[in-house]
Amino acid sequence: MEINKNVEEDGVIFMSIKDGLSENKENKANDGDVTILAIESSCDETAAAVVRNGREVLSNIISSQIALHTIYGGVVPEIASRKHVEKMNGCIRAALSEADMTLDDIDAVAVTYGPGLVGALLVGVSEAKAISFATGKPLIGVHHIEGHISANFIENKDLEPPFVCLVVSGGHSHLVVVKDYGEYEIIGQTRDDAAGEAFDKVARAIGLGYPGGPKIDKAAKEGNPDAFTFPQAQIPDAEYDFSFSGLKSCVLNYINQAKMQGQELDQKDVAASFQKAVVEVLVSHAIKACKEYGYDKLAIAGGVASNSGLRELMEKECEANKIKFYRPSPVLCTDNAAMIGAAAYYEYQKGVRFGLDMNAVPNLPLGDRERRFHANKN
Ligand code: KG4
Ligand code: ZN
Repeated sequence: MEINKNVEEDGVIFMSIKDGLSENKENKANDGDVTILAIESSCDETAAAVVRNGREVLSNIISSQIALHTIYGGVVPEIASRKHVEKMNGCIRAALSEADMTLDDIDAVAVTYGPGLVGALLVGVSEAKAISFATGKPLIGVHHIEGHISANFIENKDLEPPFVCLVVSGGHSHLVVVKDYGEYEIIGQTRDDAAGEAFDKVARAIGLGYPGGPKIDKAAKEGNPDAFTFPQAQIPDAEYDFSFSGLKSCVLNYINQAKMQGQELDQKDVAASFQKAVVEVLVSHAIKACKEYGYDKLAIAGGVASNSGLRELMEKECEANKIKFYRPSPVLCTDNAAMIGAAAYYEYQKGVRFGLDMNAVPNLPLGDRERRFHANKN
């Protein structure tokens, strides 16, 4: 996969992701093809993509604000919203231009309407509504996490439900059975911190800074994963649930103790041992779910799914248990609009259409069909 990057004057990184995503980009659309313009702005990435028939990515543009938030140690919601406003039109223009299309060639406009930061979501939602109103094209609201799960369809043309998916992002840690397109059964979730949140908090505590996940991933490669034994929580009455707050507290205690005793902190060893504890619990829960629920396909999704330790161990365990393992390329694990276009296609095929009263829903639950059809009725 080819990623063209350009750092803009304000520090925002403009990315165009190409190749390996589209099988017949040169070909003109066939009758019955569904081409969707997808928009994502739930956190600190402004993104737009053109996706044909759910799995063929004609363009995928990401404008990443990470550098702007780094000095604050995390995402500042107001800065994120303001940058989305500045960057949105440019991203959409670039996505259409790279796909060699205009709004006339689009069958529908899709947008993430939740969960996420409300001010950030509203930028994408308003933009999508304006395009839908101006062009008369249907509007489809997409659940951000359903988008992450659907990222798996882009590079794995053979993947079809049902399968088990481990969703691990900055705000979610869910183990779900994808029963059909857009139909999810949640079998496990976090009781406290999300996996990505734990990565971010521990990274901050050991001085690696923001964004924590990629920094711990990098540091862990040079550290000893057996230097410390950190706890891996098992929840007695809910075997597929996760809990990362005990692990996080244990790491923080170790850091404080080391400081009080005047010992030097070995960042790389802490990173490697912490990552091992998180990854082992994620992998063991996911494999167990596949075996007990009787599925032989397992996918991973969300920003933490780009973690190299998780990908390696999951691959090994899937092979040992004869489970077929699916994972998006790292750049499709973190926030992007191609995944929103993939999820939207299956909604479009089901006849889901949103009204212009669509609103951002910052805490939208996964698989909330009721709310969606309510939105559809208006
Ligand atoms: O899915 P995502 O891009 O945004 C949300 O929907 O939350 O996930 C962001 C999260 C952050 O917590 C980030 O630290 C984590 O994913 N992350 C990683 C890695 N890359 C991103 N965590 C572990 N290892 C990585 N390589
Ligand atoms: Zn995300």
